[in-house]
Amino acid sequence: MPENSKKFDNVKGVILAGGNATRLRPLTWVTNKHLLPIYDRPMIYYPLQSLQKAGVRDALISTNPHHAGDFINLLSTGEEFDMRLQYTIQKEPKGMAQVVGMAESFAEGSSVLVLAGDNLFDFDLKPAIERFKAQGSGARIFAMHHDHPEHYGVVEIAEDGKVISVEEKPKQPKSNYIVVGIYLFDSDAFDFVKNLKPSDRGELEITSGLIECYRQRGDLYCEVLDKDDWWIDAGTSYEELFAANEAARKRVLGQNKK
Ligand code: DAU
Repeated sequence: MPENSKKFDNVKGVILAGGNATRLRPLTWVTNKHLLPIYDRPMIYYPLQSLQKAGVRDALISTNPHHAGDFINLLSTGEEFDMRLQYTIQKEPKGMAQVVGMAESFAEGSSVLVLAGDNLFDFDLKPAIERFKAQGSGARIFAMHHDHPEHYGVVEIAEDGKVISVEEKPKQPKSNYIVVGIYLFDSDAFDFVKNLKPSDRGELEITSGLIECYRQRGDLYCEVLDKDDWWIDAGTSYEELFAANEAARKRVLGQNKK
């Protein structure tokens, strides 16, 4: 079998931990956003724990050149998480889809579960991965209801879960469902990325680029999170980072009481 032939049912993890995090300066002048504390642990622990819970053991962490050494010092081979970690460097933050493209040789034909490293959540992705496998091909994204969808990717979903439209931070959102930073792609993603052109802001876009390719092909589905599911994008502002710390503290103290 050729090395990179399609292995749809095998899912490997990709964590995006690059970018300059300009919205969080001065906190991020000398460190990477994903190493900032979220109450009792560095932010990057959250996506790692999510992969661990989902049973995904192989993961690639993508980060920027200045901080790669700090990630390796902190996480090493991933033994602490019972995972096998690899690292890659995104020289400049040229888009989330660029990172997906960089994961091609790591994936070796497997599907990938891509996590934005600043999205914190604690629900189990296993059932969604099983539904993705049952799809047989394509991609699966995740959405939740939000009162201010214009700050996020926005998705319109049909009754059967198929995606009707998906737009990045639209001025006039077509729905109240925002795309969260959790994505399942089959290995066709790597070919799709090769054909993407940089957007007006100079990035290979995940929402209006890669995900849109799957929508046009007709095998893009969306999982809607439960209203009780805890999810937070900790990386957009000081307020979100602070809220993430408060929420994490409550959850940790709550768990310790049990
Ligand atoms: O949090 C959910 C939102 O995440 C989605 O609703 C949007 O559709 C999606 O585009 C994204 O929007 P953000 O504005 O929050 O993206 P951000 O620039 O914060 O990047 C998300 C993560 O990906 C973050 O952990 C940094 C990492 N990243 C980003 C870029 C652009 C990289 O590692 N490399 C990059 O080039």
